[in-house]
Amino acid sequence: MATMRENHFDTEVAERYDDPEDPMFSPEVLGPTVDLLADLARGRPALELAVGTGRVAIPLAGRGVEVHGIELSEAMAAVLRSKPGGAGVNVTIGDMTEARVESRFGLVYLVYNTIGNVTTQDDQVRCFQTAAAHLEPGGCFVVETGVPILRRLPGEARFAVFHHTDDHVGIDEYDTATQLMWSHHYSSTDSATYTRSSVPFRYAWPAELDLMARIAGLGLSERWADWDRSPFTSASTKHVSVWVRPA
Ligand SMILES: C[S@@+](CC[C@H](N)C(=O)[O-])C[C@H]1O[C@@H](n2cnc3c(N)ncnc32)[C@H](O)[C@@H]1O
Repeated sequence: MATMRENHFDTEVAERYDDPEDPMFSPEVLGPTVDLLADLARGRPALELAVGTGRVAIPLAGRGVEVHGIELSEAMAAVLRSKPGGAGVNVTIGDMTEARVESRFGLVYLVYNTIGNVTTQDDQVRCFQTAAAHLEPGGCFVVETGVPILRRLPGEARFAVFHHTDDHVGIDEYDTATQLMWSHHYSSTDSATYTRSSVPFRYAWPAELDLMARIAGLGLSERWADWDRSPFTSASTKHVSVWVRPA
C-alpha cells in the first residue's frame, strides 16, 4: 500500500504558486520545456503526474497536445481550472503512486523535482509503475529532477543555502543515511520576523531512477542536462531523462 500522503500544497501555497517573477514561469524555461514535450508526444495524448496549477500542462495543451493530469492537491487543481486554457486540461484528483486514468498515453511526464516529493523508495517505484501503466507501447516517461548536490556540501555539513534575500532564505538539509532532505523556507515581509515552512524530499541519483524504471518495465532512451537537449555530464546539476515502454 502507498503511504498516507501529506499535502504540502494547500490553498495558501496554491494561491501564491504562480509567480511571474519566478524563472520557472519564464518563457526562457517554459519555451524549451514545452518544445521538447510536444516533440516527444508526437501528436499522442500526454499525462502529467502532479500537474499542479498547469504551469507546463496549459502551454502544452496550447500547442495542440491533448493533456490530462493527476494531482493530489484539490487547491492546486482549482487554480489550474481557473486559469485561461485550464478547462482544456482534464485533471484527476489522486495520488500519483496509485491513481489510474482510463486512457493510454504516448507521453507521461513528471517535472520540477516532483519525484522527490514522494519520500520513500517504494513509493517512487510506484510512480514509475503509474507512468508505465498509462503508456501505450512505444510511449515514453519523462522526468526532470536535480542531481543531488552532496559533493558541494563541505566536510560533514548537513545544510546548504540555496537562496538568500531580505524576504526569503532557503536552506536545504541533507540526511545521507536515509536519502531524505528538507527544503527549509524562512519568509518575511518586514525583513525582521521570519516564518518557517519545511518540505521533505527524497533524493535519488539518475542510476537509481534507471533501476526504478527497469522495475516498471521501461528502458532508458535519453538523458539530457536540460530541456534544450544539452549533454548530461558529471558537472550537470539536473537531468531530463526519458524512459520508453517497449513497442
Ligand atoms: C513543485 S509542484 C509542481 C507542479 C507542476 N508539475 C509544475 O511543474 O509546476 C509539486 C506538485 O506535486 C503535487 N504532488 C505532490 N505529491 C503528489 C502525489 N503523491 N500525487 C500527486 N501529486 C502530488 C503537489 O500537490 C504539487 O501540485
